[in-house]
Amino acid sequence: MARKGKVTVVGAGFYGSTTAMRLAEYDIFETVVLTDIIEGKPEGLALDMNQSRPIERFETKVVGKTTGQDGEGYEAIEGSDIIVITAGLPRKPGMSRMDLIEVNAKIVRQVAENVAKYAPNSVVIVVSNPLDEMTALTQLVTGFPRNRVMGQAGMLDTARFSHFVAETLAVPIASVQTLTLGSHGDTMVPVPSRCTVDGRPLTDLLPAEEIEELVTRTRNGGAEVVALLKTGSAYYAPSAAAARMARAVAEDSGAVLPVCAWVDGEYGISGVYLGVEAEIGATGVRRVVETDLTDDERAGLAEAAEAVRAKQADVQNL
Ligand SMILES: NC(=O)c1ccc[n+]([C@@H]2O[C@H](COP(=O)([O-])OP(=O)(O)OC[C@H]3O[C@@H](n4cnc5c(N)ncnc54)[C@H](O)[C@@H]3O)[C@@H](O)[C@H]2O)c1
Repeated sequence: MARKGKVTVVGAGFYGSTTAMRLAEYDIFETVVLTDIIEGKPEGLALDMNQSRPIERFETKVVGKTTGQDGEGYEAIEGSDIIVITAGLPRKPGMSRMDLIEVNAKIVRQVAENVAKYAPNSVVIVVSNPLDEMTALTQLVTGFPRNRVMGQAGMLDTARFSHFVAETLAVPIASVQTLTLGSHGDTMVPVPSRCTVDGRPLTDLLPAEEIEELVTRTRNGGAEVVALLKTGSAYYAPSAAAARMARAVAEDSGAVLPVCAWVDGEYGISGVYLGVEAEIGATGVRRVVETDLTDDERAGLAEAAEAVRAKQADVQNL
């Protein structure tokens, strides 16, 4: 099998290291680069991942590199086709994603400056929180075309919704289709009208109150894990989502995925990064795909757009 391309994961914490491992195990890339500011951490993790190659049987090489405040070490990401930005603090119990905005904006700004310098042709997938704002900031700082910068949230929120539906109805996960749009936060918009089980509408299978409970649990899905872990946030499902997005870019697959993308007229909304379905390929977002929504869902999406628009404007000054 031909392996090609270079994908970099910035931030070698829980999210970044699990993403790097998944990307390496796909065995489709020449190289996976993992970076962090903690001396030796990315190198040590890369060495460990490479030593799993004889067991898991993949040829992709993982390169770890410590980077400095002034961009030292960033030459390791040179020529990357795809960058996944996971650098930044995660939530602690009781915190909202928005509580991270100031500290993570500084981190993401520094990372984005170096991405623009060393990987000017890359497609960037942002995961640092608060997600919609950090995605907007990354586009602003890199100056990349908007289609080449997107954020990961919708795939994760959708996966959580699907899991809760499958668990509630005791059906295989493969039979469940769900969708969430909107922001990765309080104005997340789960879309029950697009949810099916073996092709049957979810609304035929569960009473409205039970669907509403699942929607609420989905909206609070990240906080539920944070409250249990007490020391950080989720990373297995999140890294699966980011790695799949990177794979869709690498394979130029045209997969339609829920992502945080620049919305320019779709759903009557313009000029904001927001969770929508989009066709993903080698250029990043090929196009935003509009889906039929109920009036309530459409109103929820418009509300989410206005909430993130205000915050995305603030982030420019952070
Ligand atoms: N979008 C989503 O769906 C989603 C889901 C879960 C977590 N997250 C977010 O992802 C981020 C990472 O989460 P985590 O669990 O891996 O946290 P973590 O604390 O385990 O790892 C973060 C890593 O970033 C590194 N870092 C800090 N500043 C850096 C810089 N300037 N350059 C490079 N690396 C730097 C830290 O040293 C640390 O190793 C958090 O902001 C979290 O809120 C997003």
